[in-house]
Amino acid sequence: MNRTLRLKLGLGALALTLGFISLAAAQEVTDLRGAVAPTDEVAPPPIYNEINDDKRRARNYPEQPPVIPHNIRDYPITLNANRCLTCHTREFTAESQAPMISITHFMDRDGQVLAGVTPRRFFCTQCHVTQADAPNLVDSTFMPIEQILQQEKGSGEQTP
Ligand code: HEC
Ligand code: HEC
Repeated sequence: MNRTLRLKLGLGALALTLGFISLAAAQEVTDLRGAVAPTDEVAPPPIYNEINDDKRRARNYPEQPPVIPHNIRDYPITLNANRCLTCHTREFTAESQAPMISITHFMDRDGQVLAGVTPRRFFCTQCHVTQADAPNLVDSTFMPIEQILQQEKGSGEQTP
């Protein structure tokens, strides 16, 4: 290969790469804001309300942490204070009429039952969440076991 040919090939490859780069840049990349120019303002999505109807929801399986049927906006949980416990601990349920934290919330990791809530269960919102009156972000095909058994009975399948 002589020098001019090598130079020409090199330039050709460079032009091709630049072409690809500009092609990629020209494609619309949509982010969470939607197809809007970075310089444009968009109306923010609505902030949905927490469901606050005080109706306890059925659990989808026995081990599910029940969802919270009330507002928790003013119930902070910090290193030193836990507002949830002022209603949900054993000694306060008579006054608050809140369901007591269950026995598992008193057990340390060795199964030893403590006098108060175990540190493992101190940060309630790690497991318990409120619900929002928002449309689902994704579809779910989850079915509770009763529904699965019902379907199998309907289709004549044998259950073990
Ligand atoms: C002012 C008292 C009070 C406070 C504070 C409180 N709750 Fe409640 N909670 C209740 C009552 C009463 C219920 C029963 C349903 C209802 O009336 O909302 C309940 C229900 C629940 C349930 C549903 C239980 C079930 O079996 O379905 C969960 C979970 C729960 N609360 C978690 C929390 C968490 C987590 C916090 C703190 C972020 C908290 N609560 C703070 C009073 C309270
Ligand atoms: C590591 C996860 C986890 C944390 C943290 C946790 N919970 Fe739970 N909670 C559960 C699960 C799982 C259940 C259902 C099974 C059970 O009782 O263990 C439950 C059940 C409950 C129930 C229903 C009890 C009943 O007998 O119906 C209440 C009320 C509750 N939790 C409140 C709280 C509060 C208040 C806190 C914070 C002090 C808390 N939980 C922290 C997982 C958690």
